[in-house]
Amino acid sequence: MKLRKAVIIAAGRGTRFLPVTRSQPKEMLPLVDRPVLQYAVDEALDSGIDQVVMVTARGKPGIEDYFDRSFELEVFLKQKGDTERLRQAQELSRKVNVCYVRQKEQLGLGHAIATARDVVGEEPFAVILPDDIIDSEVPTMRRMAEIYEKYKVGVVAVERVGDEDTRKYGIIEPKEVADGVYEVLGLVEKPESAQAPSRLGIVGRYIFTPEIFDAIDDTPPGQGGEIQITDAMQRLLGKQKLYAYELEGVRHDTGTPLGWLKANIAYALKREDIGPELRDYLKKLK
Ligand code: UTP
Repeated sequence: MKLRKAVIIAAGRGTRFLPVTRSQPKEMLPLVDRPVLQYAVDEALDSGIDQVVMVTARGKPGIEDYFDRSFELEVFLKQKGDTERLRQAQELSRKVNVCYVRQKEQLGLGHAIATARDVVGEEPFAVILPDDIIDSEVPTMRRMAEIYEKYKVGVVAVERVGDEDTRKYGIIEPKEVADGVYEVLGLVEKPESAQAPSRLGIVGRYIFTPEIFDAIDDTPPGQGGEIQITDAMQRLLGKQKLYAYELEGVRHDTGTPLGWLKANIAYALKREDIGPELRDYLKKLK
């Protein structure tokens, strides 16, 4: 079955971004002038996915409004004669078919994915964590969708991590099947480097078959009382194959102030309208 749906997970607490996240979802912080969340939605659309299921939570205002149609704004831009911004505003709400589900308690990523079960139904689906913004020529999810179409198995994105970073990621035990494509033989959640089966760490892109939902149901809470998606994936590995795609391009972790600032600088420098001036400014900084 073709991949049509993407579940975008935006229900986390964002404690590493306090105090701003007291009243502002971190997913709505801007990367230059577009919220982080829009990059995730655009990646889904650019990968041939046309339905987005957004998992949000209490105290996350602004997300629904952002992707909705704004008549007042459109009338205002029309009266002003700002046709380019008017076109952009209309296009944004027109191109996204998005529905929302709420995670009532923040019981982990596995739990957040499971809240989308009824909307996803019995078909394969993508999961995108918007914190991870990947700047690449071809969207990462598009590449993963191609692997899914070819092998008809779940796919995760992985990235090569340093020795000191293995304990921040789920690390795969890989068997290379094609250039940058691996069969996952095993998974270890956040191992010390000596115990890590490789240096390939899982990042925020997944394609799952619907069987993952039963696997999540059967997964007891792990670290920190949360239902970890890696545990559910591990459980499913015995029954189903899983592949990994080593991402190309640059990944930014926008879930922390430092990562978010770096991503802003990287994206702003690439912009023709502000990049050159920003570069001059940065050169002048002591
Ligand atoms: P993180 O580990 O980054 O947690 O979650 P967080 O809550 O967003 O941020 P910190 O650690 O408190 O600063 C990884 C992803 O899982 C989602 C987050 O939104 C993020 O996309 N998540 C996590 C949920 O949606 N619900 C949860 O219960 C936990």
